[in-house]
Amino acid sequence: MALPEQSLQLHSTVLGNGTLQLSLAEVQTPQPGDGDVLIEVAGSPINPSDLGMLFGPADMTTAREETVDGRPSVVADIPEQMMRAMAGRVDQALPPGNEGAGVVVAAGRDPEAQALIGRTVAILGGAMYSQYRVAPARHCLVLNEGTTPAQAASCFVNPLTALGMVETMKMEGHAALIHTAAASNLGQMLVKICQNDGVELVNIVRKQEHVSLLKELGAIHVCNSSDDDFMDRLTDALAETGATLGFDATGGGQLASQILSCMEAAQARRAQGFDRYGSTTHKQVYIYGGLDRNVTTLTRNYGMYWGMGGWLLTPFLQKIGREEADKLRKRVADEIDTTFASSYVKEVSLSEMLTIDSIRVFGLQATGQKYLVNPSLTS
Ligand SMILES: NC(=O)c1ccc[n+]([C@@H]2O[C@H](COP(=O)([O-])OP(=O)(O)OC[C@H]3O[C@@H](n4cnc5c(N)ncnc54)[C@H](OP(=O)(O)O)[C@@H]3O)[C@@H](O)[C@H]2O)c1
Repeated sequence: MALPEQSLQLHSTVLGNGTLQLSLAEVQTPQPGDGDVLIEVAGSPINPSDLGMLFGPADMTTAREETVDGRPSVVADIPEQMMRAMAGRVDQALPPGNEGAGVVVAAGRDPEAQALIGRTVAILGGAMYSQYRVAPARHCLVLNEGTTPAQAASCFVNPLTALGMVETMKMEGHAALIHTAAASNLGQMLVKICQNDGVELVNIVRKQEHVSLLKELGAIHVCNSSDDDFMDRLTDALAETGATLGFDATGGGQLASQILSCMEAAQARRAQGFDRYGSTTHKQVYIYGGLDRNVTTLTRNYGMYWGMGGWLLTPFLQKIGREEADKLRKRVADEIDTTFASSYVKEVSLSEMLTIDSIRVFGLQATGQKYLVNPSLTS
């Protein structure tokens, strides 16, 4: 198959004039080295973690459509006070898109690379909003025959994080889990993993329709943070499950602190007698997302045995090592259309991604509004 010499790649650039520009650049189609494969990318999700590089510090309410070299582009203003922190990014065209999948259309001469020609593979490595992407064959997750790039687009970020939560629970000696923003794609995967693996899970959402959504998936404990009796219900669920490990995707506001308070209240129900330092059971919340940009507020009414920290997929994978990580990756490949199935409200080309209407939807990070980018579409 003849490959084009030039192909399209989406760039996010902070310009010296105080604007952010999203544009499509013609770049040299990359050539695979001996151990590499060339992937025609046909599926890459727009995840919350992609929005940081895509939008940078821009105020996207000011976004407007323009053209660059005859191709669609979006430009938005960056508040003046944010430009100071952007000195290192000015005029650098960054290629977003953390993960994605496609079919291998060419390969270097190593047998390991040659063996992948024609296979659907997924990679995590950035620059996935590109028509073609080179990657070392050994970095590719090779999907089972019949898996499409759209099914394989989200193989890493959410599936491995959901699995990582359960592994962290085991490694750190907790009995059950709590998860916030739980109707997310990741949250729905976690519900299915916990069902399959017999792990008790307390889900927190903020809308009644998402309580119903998760119950239909089979979730047992779903608490709505908008309910007046949220804290009582959460305490009941924590007393029932004994969950002392929470993963909080919101990060801001008081939710993480409320979870620790309810863990402490649930532990107090089990305690014999009163201890002025609170329960001696360690209670932990990991903030693993930043959906709520408000300041994180702690009301320390949970004794002295607690912790709050950050959690990120990459260091977790490094901690468990290649062999254990490969087991998790294999499970994702085998269950990509069941446990780890992602849902997208729309599939768009690179050009269709760069419209105000699209940005208004995928920029929301709302339940059921995730976009799938398919760079192989030409419209
Ligand atoms: N640390 C890591 O290594 C890592 C790895 C993977 C994913 N993540 C994080 O995992 C989270 C879920 O990702 P995803 O791709 O599964 O998300 P998604 O499918 O796009 O869904 C986002 C969810 O967040 C909720 N949400 C948005 N803003 C919120 C707010 N201010 N307060 C409470 N809930 C809010 C939405 O609920 P509504 O409909 O109610 O708005 C929706 O259910 C993200 O925060 C992402 O950054 C972290």
